[in-house]
Order: sequence, then structure tokens, then C-alpha cells
Amino acid sequence: MSDAHQNQHDLSAKPDQRAARSADYTTNLDLEGAEFGGELNGEELTAEYRSGSDWWRTAVFYQIYPKSFADGNGDGIGDLIGVKDRLDYLALLGVDALWLSPFYKSPMADGGYDVSDPTDVDPMFGTLADFDAMITAAHERGIKVTVDIVPNHLSDQHVWFQQALAAGPGSPERARFIFMDGRGPDGSEPPNNWPSIFGGPAWTRVPDGQWYLHIFAPEQPDVNWANPEVPAEFERILRFWLERGADGFRVDVAHSMAKPEGLPDMDLTAYQGPGTQLNPDLRFDNDGVHEHLKMFRRVIDSYENRMAVGEAWVANDERLALYVRGDELHLTFNFRLVEAPWSAESFQSAIDNSLTAMAEVGAPCTWVLSNHDVIRHTTRYGGGPVGHARGRAAALVQLSLPGAAYLYNGDELGLENVNLPDEALQDPTWERSGHTERGRDGERVPMPWEGTEPPFGFGAGVQPWLPVPPEWAAVTVEAQLDDEGSTLSLYRHALRLRRQLPELHGSAFSWQRGPQGCLAYRRGSNLVVALNAGDVPVELPPGEVLLSSSALEGNKLPANTAVWLRA
Ligand code: GLC
Ligand code: CA
Repeated sequence: MSDAHQNQHDLSAKPDQRAARSADYTTNLDLEGAEFGGELNGEELTAEYRSGSDWWRTAVFYQIYPKSFADGNGDGIGDLIGVKDRLDYLALLGVDALWLSPFYKSPMADGGYDVSDPTDVDPMFGTLADFDAMITAAHERGIKVTVDIVPNHLSDQHVWFQQALAAGPGSPERARFIFMDGRGPDGSEPPNNWPSIFGGPAWTRVPDGQWYLHIFAPEQPDVNWANPEVPAEFERILRFWLERGADGFRVDVAHSMAKPEGLPDMDLTAYQGPGTQLNPDLRFDNDGVHEHLKMFRRVIDSYENRMAVGEAWVANDERLALYVRGDELHLTFNFRLVEAPWSAESFQSAIDNSLTAMAEVGAPCTWVLSNHDVIRHTTRYGGGPVGHARGRAAALVQLSLPGAAYLYNGDELGLENVNLPDEALQDPTWERSGHTERGRDGERVPMPWEGTEPPFGFGAGVQPWLPVPPEWAAVTVEAQLDDEGSTLSLYRHALRLRRQLPELHGSAFSWQRGPQGCLAYRRGSNLVVALNAGDVPVELPPGEVLLSSSALEGNKLPANTAVWLRA
């Protein structure tokens, strides 16, 4: 099996030293009657937790992949009206903020990450008026809205690229992109040997003989950030969405805007094919990127209470921390947890390393388990009942670590990746890899809302853009909502407790000793989190159980289970 995105950006960081553990994890407590804590109710939580200038430091963000979330007009494709119509669900779930993947004008060569007009809504997703109505309705519910910004490339249909093609070599229009003459006597070889992330070369030749760089698909030409017109244009785009009320941004491939001087060849000996990066990788994480991020911060800080999170797949957490120095991004996704296989050691090492690196620069960690580019965590952890139990346990870890957390739509339903038939695949990776890499559609299948037949209330009419499996009848929102044991209920409990428990708002964190195969940590003075990632039940740590990811067996913490306790 070669699902590239499973090890996408696998930079094989060195394992780090485990932090010294303190305190004991021993117990004899009588836990008779311990069960999921608290009632499900629509309780309003303290306003300070949601607002204030640093709301993002502890916020739970919910990623919406607009095409797959909810279809408001019944054409089989999710849209902004669909998002607005489901805001009460998101309020009930208890998230603080949304991140919407791109809904901008786009020919959709890469699911909307090929933007042809960054300050307009694609008709597929609605109109600017729909955006305004959605954000107003979200704000009325106390939910913030952040949007994607894609600064590394534009669509080949963007007016700038069309002008660049028409204007010819040496023109100022071409200088907004990275056009070069080729190598070899007749210039028929690409300017360097860089591969595209989606497979094939990172260069495409145009009819007049020049080549342009595209680190992603040919429909996504890289822009030239060394040309002052480019930062000026992105400042305009940032301000456009800030003026419309956006609370922040997710910065797409934030590590790629600056290119190395002279665009030298890469050493491809260790290269593992489409979807992977090298460590280090010449194409990414060049120091010049930080100047550009400072511009982002300056613009964002000229508005109140706004933020930005970066997507940066870099060699290690020390490099990552550079992105969240005080005058750069506010947050940056910690992908080490995404890459960690299911084991106490790998989780602990990912957590430890991230906490240490972020503390150096005073930034919070930003925990992620799934997104639209990686195999859903329930599937990564083995799928089926075991993967499911592990996915629930991992969620209790994710939501109890200090910092911000990002959920991906469907995490709260415990959704798994779907094995789609070849003819359904739409990710450019499938074509560009010569049908060897299936790409990322399996984690982008539309959300199941209600009813017993596909597409489960996703939209009113036609079948959606990707087929929804009939088995999802068991995991619709409707099926899970009133089921106290459902994954949806687990997330609701966790998010409610996360707001109520002062321990989870602060940054205090210390590891506790635990049995083989387990990890445990204390948050604040007396909240303890324990995860049994091993194969056999262990003694529970002492304390009152507030929440557990699976039913407990007496005073045992079963395998593949996590628990929150009041010590
Ligand atoms: C990011 C996005 C991904 C997209 C790529 C190119 O990695 O998350 O979906 O394909 O950037 O924009
Ligand atoms: Ca639609």
C-alpha cells in the first residue's frame, strides 16, 4: 500500500529524550459507579473563555472542508449556506472557532487550493453575501470564523497568470511568478530537478519555451515573493477578509513562500516520491519566509483580536518554533502528533518535544489529529473497533493538552477514511502519480447528518461529489446525538469540561509516572489525564473520574482508553 499522504511530509525527526517524570501513578481508589461525567446541556460558558485578545491560545477550532460539510442548495456540493444552516450543531458541539478551507473562486484543480480570485466566493460555494450572513450568524453564537489564505501559489486561471502568459519572457507580468529558461542546448530540460508534491516535475513549459515553477499542480504556479507586488497583493487579500469580519487565517504551506537563491538542484537520493519531503528539503523552510510572515502579523495586529495559524511541515520542532516568534504567526500546527504511531512512547515524545520547542518562544502548542490532507486518525490507528477506541482516547489526550486544538469535520463522529472506487477519485495526486497514489479523497467524504440512506441529509438532491458509504447510517449526527456512549457525546462532554475546568485553560503541565504502555500527565493542581496505549488493562490512577473514552472495568483502565480524573 502506498498512500503517500499517510507519510506525507514524513521528515523522520530524531526521537528525543523523554522528559523526566515526576510523582506517582499508583492507586487503590474505589471507583464504583464511575461513569461519564456531567449532563449534556446547553449551558452557557464564561465569556472570557471565548473572547479577549488571546482567545486563540486555548481555543478549539473546527475545520470545515466546505465541499464536504453541508450542501445548502442541493447540488451535491457543500457550500456556505450549508455551513450557516449547521451553526447550531457547531454551537451544541461546543467549538470556539471555525477554520474554513478555501471557498474562493477556483477551477478546483486542487480542491480549491488553486485560487483564481482570492477575494471572491466561488459560485459553487455561494456568494460574498452568503459569507457575510454565515459569519454574522456564527458571531451571534459566539463562534469565531477563520479562513484559509494560500500565499505560495495562485491558480493558472488567475488574471495575473493569464497576463504573464500573454506578456512573454522578461516582462513585469512574468516577474510575479517564477519563470525561467530551461537547461540543455535547446532549453528543453526543466531549470532544476525539483519534483512536484503531487508527482512529476515541479516545472511546466509554456509555448514560448520558458518554464514556470509549481511546487504543487501545474494549475498552481508559485508566485514570486521577492517581487514587492506579491506581498502588497497578499496584504490586500488579508485586509479584505479582516474587514469582512474574519477572526483570523490558516496560512497554507506557510513554509514555502521563500525560495533558495539560484534555485539549485536537490539531492534526490533519499527522495520517496509524491507527497513526501526530504529532511532538509531545499524547496521549503527557507529563512526568507520569516520576513513575509512578519508582514502577515503586522497587518493582522492592526485589527483587534485576530490571529493566524501556519501549516508548516518542517524538519523539527525547533524549526517550527521559529514560525511563532512574537512578531510572526500566532500558532502553528504540531504535525508530530499526526505522524506519531499508536504508542505511549511516540505520543509522549511528540508532546514533549512540541511543548519544549514552543515554550522557548512563548507560543502555545496547536494539536491536530486529522485534517483534509491526512488519513483520518481512527483509520491510522488501525480502523474498526480498535481504531475507534484509540481514536476516542487520542481525542481526550488532544483536548487536555495545553494550547489550542484543531478538530477536522467528522472527527467528532469518529469517521474513518473511505476506500473509494477509482472512478470517484478527484485528488490531482491520483492522475499525476500515474494512478499509483490514491490521494486524499478518502478523508474528504461528505458528512453524514441524518436518515438511513446515503447521502444522509448532506444535501437535498443529487448524490454528492464523492459517494458516501451506506454503513455510515450508524454514525450520522442524528444517530449519535442522543446516544450517551457515542463519539459525538464524548466530544461534547470533553469540550464542555474543557471550558469548565480552570486547569485546562492554563499551561501548567507535568508528566506522571505510569505503567508500561501508558502515559499520564497532570494539568494544573489536580487534573490528571491517563492513556493506556498498551494491550492489557492497568490500575486507574487515584481520583474521581470526570470523563473516560471507553467504559471502565471496575478500577481498571482498559487498553486503548484515556481518562480525565480529579486527583
Ligand atoms: C496544503 C493544503 C493542501 C493543498 C496544498 C497546496 O498542504 O492543506 O490541501 O493541496 O497546500 O495548496
Ligand atoms: Ca451546494
